[in-house]
Amino acid sequence: MRKMYISRSAEDTLEIGRVLGSFLRAGDSVLLYGDLGAGKSVLARGCARALGIKCDMASPTFTIMQPYAGDGVNVYHFDLYRLSDADELYYTGLEDRIGTDGVALIEWPQQADVCPEVRVEADILRGADADTRYIEFSFFGMDGRESGIVSALEKYASPEETEL
Ligand SMILES: Nc1ncnc2c1ncn2[C@@H]1O[C@H](COP(=O)(O)OP(=O)(O)O)[C@@H](O)[C@H]1O
Ligand SMILES: [Mg+2]
Repeated sequence: MRKMYISRSAEDTLEIGRVLGSFLRAGDSVLLYGDLGAGKSVLARGCARALGIKCDMASPTFTIMQPYAGDGVNVYHFDLYRLSDADELYYTGLEDRIGTDGVALIEWPQQADVCPEVRVEADILRGADADTRYIEFSFFGMDGRESGIVSALEKYASPEETEL
């Protein structure tokens, strides 16, 4: 299932992330696509908040993977932007952390060619004005949880069938 949402501010994106995060559980992955500055980290932060992470999430760009302990679930925040080779990917532990004891939030997943079975793909695209973002979610293997997410996000739903 695919759904398009409109965010008109960073706060909207944070809230959309919070709603999504409230439906996530250990073993899920969120793949975050979009240019630099699109809002991937903002969306990831919203998800993490919903999972009980209260500290500021620094950008993991220089560490590639930053783990957090949430409410009964771990959160692994990946930023693969600067990933240089397969060895480095191996050391991030990405393969071992997908589908296990935590939620994986993965920025720049195209750098690693990963495809977790249970996942939400988030495509973030800039709109005409500076603070507008189109956020498209695609759900895979979510066991029907997507319908709860879709109804909880109704107020952000894009009225027209915007094609990315
Ligand atoms: N609607 C919006 N959603 C998300 N971020 C927005 C929005 N409008 C403006 N911004 C700004 O865009 C930037 C997004 O940064 P970030 O989430 O770090 O991007 P990315 O991780 O995709 O590189 C932030 O400075 C944020 O304040
Ligand atoms: Mg980022």
